[in-house]
Amino acid sequence: MNIGVYPGSFDPLTSGHMDVLRRAAALMDKVIVAVLVNSAKHPYFSVKERLDFIEAASRAEKLNNVEADSFQGLLVDYAHSVGAKHIIRGLRAVMDFEYEFQISSVNRRLAPDIDTVYFMAEPEHSYVSSSIIREICALGAPIDGMVPEVIKCSITERLAK
Ligand code: PNS
Repeated sequence: MNIGVYPGSFDPLTSGHMDVLRRAAALMDKVIVAVLVNSAKHPYFSVKERLDFIEAASRAEKLNNVEADSFQGLLVDYAHSVGAKHIIRGLRAVMDFEYEFQISSVNRRLAPDIDTVYFMAEPEHSYVSSSIIREICALGAPIDGMVPEVIKCSITERLAK
């Protein structure tokens, strides 16, 4: 079985994340969206909220081979523990490249049996990020189209508080 792990903070899940997830799910037998548990990053949404968002958005799109999970520690250890041979990431623009090149090289050195697969963002998602969504939504701007419709209200309500 070809299993991919799509890791990240997903704080919160965006339409850009969903674009990557949709395409990865079409390529692989199973995709596990893995939320990093890292208190040092001070995420806005709890791990449970972020997992609920991923599950609701995947269900709404009938992505039946997608699961949501959380992990701590090294990503490659988690990937090994679930039998994944691929790590999935998205690339939006040149600014992402340096960081992604670094982490894929580190992961490859730590686990040569695991490869990272990148999906280039569709142009309409190239400016979308979780931090931009948190900022503009908290300031009262609409986030239509920037997050999956099914979780938009929950995100807006939480950020408006
Ligand atoms: O969405 P993000 O915050 O850019 O995702 C970063 C993530 C989760 C992929 C990265 O921080 C990670 O894999 N952390 C786990 C610790 C680890 O394995 N570090 C070595 C590779 S950087």
